[in-house]
Amino acid sequence: MPSILILFAHPAFEKSRTHKELIRKISGLENVTINDLYEEYPDFDINVEREKELLLKHDILIFQHPFYWYSMPALLKQWMDLVLEYGFAYGIKGTHLRNKKIFNAISTGGSFSAYQKEGHNRYTITEFLAVFDQTAFLCKMTYYPPFVVHNSHLLSSEEIEDFSNQYLEVVTGLRDGIFSEDDLVRANYMNNLIGRPYTL
Ligand SMILES: Cc1cc2nc3c(=O)[nH]c(=O)nc-3n(C[C@H](O)[C@H](O)[C@H](O)COP(=O)(O)O)c2cc1C
Repeated sequence: MPSILILFAHPAFEKSRTHKELIRKISGLENVTINDLYEEYPDFDINVEREKELLLKHDILIFQHPFYWYSMPALLKQWMDLVLEYGFAYGIKGTHLRNKKIFNAISTGGSFSAYQKEGHNRYTITEFLAVFDQTAFLCKMTYYPPFVVHNSHLLSSEEIEDFSNQYLEVVTGLRDGIFSEDDLVRANYMNNLIGRPYTL
């Protein structure tokens, strides 16, 4: 059974509506470790060795975070800058992450239609996440499509609960190997794999 590491980064978790529920839903699952980066490193003083050990122990990595400025919260960027070292994550001898799977689980204030070529944000989520895709490629990992919760500010509690159930299905589905590799690489969002696609 593959093990999953959630690299969770939310700088204002006490005010969170979406991620609070997503995290609650997947807490305590067998073979799923939640690494809460802002809780662990409030001063941005990342313990690189601890992080590398955690990476080595898991097969599937999930960057879970709210979408901030079309990207990630600052501590997650700091984590990438420090932990994905040459000789560990990439480079001739940097093969420690090879064959691991990785993707983003994000929430956005913007709607699905805003994240289209003709929409307000002009680019799709997949296009904005290209830096993660290429980082995975450099580290010889497989990049999976993102799990996305759009319109986070407008969602009712029931809708957030529904998304947290979807997330649970995605996380346990990956852990239990129920998705085919072909479906995983082809899907636009993880949400599609559990029959809950966004449509325009
Ligand atoms: C500093 C900051 C930057 C943000 N940037 C974006 C953005 O670029 N695109 C977007 O759709 N939403 C953006 N948002 C909205 C967040 O994504 C939204 O607040 C979050 O998904 C809500 O999740 P939560 O309920 O777990 O806090 C931003 C919010 C903040 C505070």
